[in-house]
This record gives sequence, structure tokens and C-alpha cells, in this order.
Amino acid sequence: MHHLISPQDLSTTQINELIALAGRIIESPSSYSEICKGKKLATLFYEPSTRTRLSFEAAMLNLGGSVLGFSSADSSSAAKGESVADTIRVISSYADICAMRHPKEGAPMVAAMHSRIPVINAGDGGHNHPTQTLTDLLTISRLKGRLDHLTIGCCGDLKFGRTVHSLVNAMARYEGVRFVFISPEELKIPAYLRSDVLDSAGISYKETKNLEEVMPELDVLYMTRVQRERFFNEEDYIRLKDLFILDAEKMKYARPDMLVMHPLPRVNEISTEVDSDPRAVYFKQAEYGMYIRMALILTLLSDPENKKEALVC
Ligand code: CP
Repeated sequence: MHHLISPQDLSTTQINELIALAGRIIESPSSYSEICKGKKLATLFYEPSTRTRLSFEAAMLNLGGSVLGFSSADSSSAAKGESVADTIRVISSYADICAMRHPKEGAPMVAAMHSRIPVINAGDGGHNHPTQTLTDLLTISRLKGRLDHLTIGCCGDLKFGRTVHSLVNAMARYEGVRFVFISPEELKIPAYLRSDVLDSAGISYKETKNLEEVMPELDVLYMTRVQRERFFNEEDYIRLKDLFILDAEKMKYARPDMLVMHPLPRVNEISTEVDSDPRAVYFKQAEYGMYIRMALILTLLSDPENKKEALVC
């Protein structure tokens, strides 16, 4: 693995290895606290972020490395018209690895083509968010004990929600996984995911507008925010934003061991009264995001193909 641009860059073996390494880091963080000493992570964020950027930075600091970067396009030379290709050529001289978030689909891929250091896609437009997916897989693996034979419900904005697109791509490769997509007509999962990922592999799924009706079937309910920033029309956003709100009443329909996940940030789609339900694991999920990013940074910097001195995991 040279870069991580899409979840398909990772085989299930590599995903399982990253989850196992994250588990070892969780058990013994001090064993890894100096392993990236002298290494630098650049965080190139052209779009807002709290969890992804700060968990990447915390991850590198926890590994003994250091961080540099920018948190908005306005505070970088992108504001003067610099291309992603030129930026990454320069950053390759300053850092050993970088994480990039960009509003344009494919920007991290372009960066990878011009980079001398590993590029990690930290979210590109409505396309992919592979490290959120690794976070989600680590969460499911640790809290359900498996990644196969699960029914995953995805609810909310399935059209623009890149975390759902990446999660479906990744989970579709595990045996016995089925999906339930809960959304309004306008925010349905994209047709290419249905045809290229699900139909082509014969993976079972259904689509519905009724959350209560499908709750009892689910092992995991993955809630998502309606992505205001990707709407062309404010009226449509206002009409659709509160169609699905998970509250304590709806949780009565869920299995006692169902996990409620959310990539965060949440707006209204999960009532705060759900936070105290032991099945609500979204804050734990955000914590796991730091550990899986530690495992990913370590793995990429250890790859001899990256022509950096090898580190021992
Ligand atoms: N889940 C996630 O990507 O959160 P941020 O936008 O805060 O990074």
C-alpha cells in the first residue's frame, strides 16, 4: 500500500491487519509512543474538519512524530490559485506523509500522482472517506466481535454522504453482510453503488423510507447528517433535513445489542436523549478513529515501497 485514496486500495487482509495493529496500540499505547520520532505528518485540509484532522494530528503526536499543515484553503496558497499538484510537490520535501481533505472528488488521487510521500485521502467531496471507513470497521469489529454476517442499516443522506459510500464499498466484501438503506427518494444511495458494488456481487439490500419498520432487523444503524454544503438549493435542504430523527421512542424498536453509529458531526438526526443509551457508540467510534489512524500512519511509513527507512510494527 503506497497511498490510501479509496477503501478498495485495501484488501480485506490489509484491513484486518490494520484493525489488529490498532488493537495492539489500544492495549499498549506506550509501546508505540516513540516509533515515529523524527517523522512529520502534513495535514492539508481544504475543507472544514474537527475529528479527522485532529485525530490524524493526535495519532502522529502519540507515535512520537510531529505535525504541520493548514486547516482551510483560505490559509494556504490555494487561495492564490496554486494547484494541488504543485502543493504536494512542495510538501513532499517538508513531510514524510500527508492527509488531504478536499471538496473536489479526485483531488487526493491527483495529489498521489505527483507526490513523493504517501497520501491519505481524508475525504474528497461526496466521493470517499477511507479513514472514516477504517474507523467504522474497527468500531464494528471491537464492539460486535466480527465484520461478517451483519445487517447494516444506513439512514439519512445516502446520496452525498461519502462515509456511507466508503462503508458500503468496504463492508460489501465481507461474507453474509446485507444492507438496509433508509432515506427519502431524493437522497437515495447512488445508482453506481447499487449496480457496480451490490448487484454485481449479488449482495442483499433493500431500500425504505420507514426507519421504525426496519429497526428490529439491524445489527448496526449508521446514521448520517444531511450534507447541507453539497445541496444546490437551500429549500431542498430545509425540506429534507429533519425527515429522520432517531430518538428514545424509536430506539424501543431496536435489538438490545444494536449499535448506533454516526461519523459525526451530528445536527438533528440523533436526539441527545439517545446519547445515554449504551447502544449509542458514536463518541467511542470517534475515539477509535485516532487509533486506526495511528495504525495506518505506522503501516504506510513502514512500507519499504515508500523508500523511507523501515519502522518495526
Ligand atoms: N467524521 C468526520 O469526517 O468528521 P470531521 O468532518 O469533523 O472530520
